[in-house]
Amino acid sequence: MQNHQENYIKIMKEKNKNKLVTYSILTMGCQLNENDSEKIAGMLENMGYSFIEDYKKANLIIFNTCCVRENAEERLLGKIGEIKKIKERRNVILAIGGCMMQEKNMVDKIKKSYPFVDVIFGTHTMQNLPENIYKATVKQEKVKDIMDIDGEIYEGLPIKRNDQFKASVTIMYGCNNYCTYCIVPYVRGRERSRKPEKILEEIKQLAQEGYKEITLLGQNVNSYQGDNNIRNFADLLEEVCKVDGIERVKFISPHPKDFTDDVIETIAKNKKICRMIHLPLQAGNTKVLQEMNRKYTKEQYLALVQKMKTKIPDIVFSTDIIVGFPGETDEEFEDTLDVVRKVNFEQVFMFIYSIREGTVAAGREDQIPEKIKHERFNQLKELYNNSVDKNNEKYIGTVQNILIEGYSKNNKTTFTGRTDTNKVIIFEESEECRIGDMVKVKITEAHKWYLKGEIIDTKK
Ligand code: 5AD
Ligand code: SF4
Repeated sequence: MQNHQENYIKIMKEKNKNKLVTYSILTMGCQLNENDSEKIAGMLENMGYSFIEDYKKANLIIFNTCCVRENAEERLLGKIGEIKKIKERRNVILAIGGCMMQEKNMVDKIKKSYPFVDVIFGTHTMQNLPENIYKATVKQEKVKDIMDIDGEIYEGLPIKRNDQFKASVTIMYGCNNYCTYCIVPYVRGRERSRKPEKILEEIKQLAQEGYKEITLLGQNVNSYQGDNNIRNFADLLEEVCKVDGIERVKFISPHPKDFTDDVIETIAKNKKICRMIHLPLQAGNTKVLQEMNRKYTKEQYLALVQKMKTKIPDIVFSTDIIVGFPGETDEEFEDTLDVVRKVNFEQVFMFIYSIREGTVAAGREDQIPEKIKHERFNQLKELYNNSVDKNNEKYIGTVQNILIEGYSKNNKTTFTGRTDTNKVIIFEESEECRIGDMVKVKITEAHKWYLKGEIIDTKK
């Protein structure tokens, strides 16, 4: 962390001393944003702020925004409107950051129509928050702190994590792929990888604190670039698996085009790596994929899945799919359904294509009518829903490694956890084990969104 930010942390801590000054963060979007919010929370706690769940009651409200899809904008403006009403009644500081603040027209709109917003910060200036909050609260200035060029990687930001046993670790920032529908490369900048030793230092520290599960994060996680020793993503995965105390390793999101054989080998030989691989398909038709600039064909995607299924027999897949990309015909959409049938994904995240100004696909004139997009969405949803029962039933009678994540919401004697393939499972608690333990559980029942089981061994 930079020295002068440390100074602002000290000043604010002194100012907030012996007072209850609360903060709340509303995080929109992906796990990278969640991880950024954990760092924002870390800075604020060091500045003497205390966390409060309900943002409407907080003295300092942070919105960490996302702009991947269109509806996020309306949602954000609605929330800002809510805060305006609160501001009319009492003193509250509103700071808005994240991906959407890297879009110039959005910032202009907020400055013009919502001048009461106190701080606007971007994805490359998050580390300046102590100074910016100081300016807004002590100096009562309106602050706009956005940088268009890629930020450096700031190591050592304080962090307050949301979970006790599962932790996310961002290993690379940005994206160089320019898929034609996607705004991310414009708001998150070019790919930058953290130094392997910094990542491993963080993970060893987490293991010492009792964390069991690590999720490596990056917009394009498998294009990670290391150094002479730990050269690439495969090497890094290997090293993370060696960290004592870490029982489970996950990563999101890889790009199929960068899924090299060495990564597949590493997964095959390391049982700690989660057996559900998220492999974003986006579309099943080769022409659509080409127009999306995805750099693989339908056949190459299917061949990759087949290769992984052969080398890692217990593997399952999850995916992201966009329906209604400009120009997509009914026949082309059929290819998406065909791939879904062939791969038999255990989880499908479905999105209706939404125009993102500034991207290549936004300029196309052959946009698909809303009605057709919705019909395709429903067709895909039905196909997926029908596959869920069959996939879940396969688990009955099997014995699974489970990381106990907590108690079930509705029943305080029932544990909940996940299998190596990311399936949610609930089972009766046992006195011999606690939250955070790995146990063996036999699956007895399959339901639509979870499995039921019983502990058969409290040692993994
Ligand atoms: N419209 C719809 N979905 C999108 N995604 C990214 N950009 C768009 C868009 N313009 C989806 C992709 C990506 C996921 C995070 O969001 O499927 O993998
Ligand atoms: Fe967007 Fe494509 Fe980059 Fe993913 S790989 S963040 S979809 S441009």
